[in-house]
Amino acid sequence: MAFSAARAQRRAWDRRAGSWEHGGAQNLTKVVDAVLEAAAPAPGSSAVDLGAGTGQVTLPLARTGVRVIAVDVSPEMISRLEAKALQDGVDGVEGMVAPIEQLRLPAGSVDLVVSNYTLHHLRDPDKEALVHSVFEWLRPGGRLVIGDMMFGRGTSGRDRAIIGSKLAVLAKRGPAGWWRIMKNVFRFALRMRERPVSAQRWTGYFEKAGLVDVTYKEVVAEAAVMVGTKP
Ligand SMILES: C[S@@+](CC[C@H](N)C(=O)[O-])C[C@H]1O[C@@H](n2cnc3c(N)ncnc32)[C@H](O)[C@@H]1O
Repeated sequence: MAFSAARAQRRAWDRRAGSWEHGGAQNLTKVVDAVLEAAAPAPGSSAVDLGAGTGQVTLPLARTGVRVIAVDVSPEMISRLEAKALQDGVDGVEGMVAPIEQLRLPAGSVDLVVSNYTLHHLRDPDKEALVHSVFEWLRPGGRLVIGDMMFGRGTSGRDRAIIGSKLAVLAKRGPAGWWRIMKNVFRFALRMRERPVSAQRWTGYFEKAGLVDVTYKEVVAEAAVMVGTKP
């Protein structure tokens, strides 16, 4: 990723850090819960959370005795996450500020890699390359668990239903919502920032990287949780 793109991305997420909390966002909470349920790591194991934000997945994992490296491009997100861990007396969390596209970890060093609502921001080749890297970082038997919006660009009935319901929610908000629709349609058309792909595409990335027992579960309309294991 070019240096200026990474800097712009960091600034954009730093600005959103204060508002990025799940309070009241019931659907996001459901996806976090599904990720945690699928992850179910053993106490004492090690995990990496990609795009950890302010700790929605990292902190519950660490509370169960898992050592977590929380990676995020935004220093502000990581500093909030670390402050929460300190305040709540949660041990075993290591914050790391880095774009996940450039993350390098030792081969065979982790039991679990999780990511929630982050990977749809990556370009498709970066998604695929990341899954290959994760395969290297995992120990045999280790798992990759991704919770994210998973839908394609309108070729299936499910895609069209999801896109239609997102637009309907925004349209109900009046002029502010119509403005968001225009911005979102523009971003979606040009694949700026929001670049979800379908669960079928994710399954392909997982299997091509060598992960086995690949399964996914739809959690809420737009989001699914996908799991794969390193043999
Ligand atoms: C929508 S938030 C999700 C945060 C958290 N995982 C959760 O479930 O609430 C996306 C997070 O990914 C981070 N992020 C986005 N693109 C990233 C990248 N390329 N590398 C590292 N972090 C990234 C953002 O800074 C933000 O904290």
